[in-house]
Amino acid sequence: MSLREVRIYGDPVLRRKAKKVTKFDGKLKDLVRDMAETMHVERGIGLAGPQVGVQRRVIVVDVSAGKDPSQLMALVNPKIKWKSNKTCLIEEGCLSIPGVDAAVERPIAVEVEAQDTDGEDVKINAREMLARVIQHEIDHLDGILFTDKVVDGEKNKIEPKLKKLTQTVTSKT
Ligand code: CO
Repeated sequence: MSLREVRIYGDPVLRRKAKKVTKFDGKLKDLVRDMAETMHVERGIGLAGPQVGVQRRVIVVDVSAGKDPSQLMALVNPKIKWKSNKTCLIEEGCLSIPGVDAAVERPIAVEVEAQDTDGEDVKINAREMLARVIQHEIDHLDGILFTDKVVDGEKNKIEPKLKKLTQTVTSKT
């Protein structure tokens, strides 16, 4: 296992659409293992392929943040099949956008179809925190960041922080 570098806001990889996974091989399992380890070390509750520079439709989620191994899940090619009309507004953060928290409105429940790392179909009925994290991570696979979705009143608050993050990334290259 090894840790992967988490890409930060401003890195173009975060804005690209990830490609469907077609090979369920050892490389995929290594990627998922590394992503889970990286997420836990960074104290995150979700991580998507593009966040570690991999343009593949893979996410890992653990709403227990490493406290309960049974909560860890890896979803390959996840798709939202249904979402509730009922939504809620909750503060989100993202390992790729350090220091920024803002409220995002999302459906409170979703039904997701995906595959596991062996290519077997899995179906998940997620509510509340789990539903929110899964939606946030699937957005990453389409190049969408939570900061794109923050409620109007909070946009001004986060704008200067985002600008600063972008400048940091630019100056590194
Ligand atoms: Co994120």
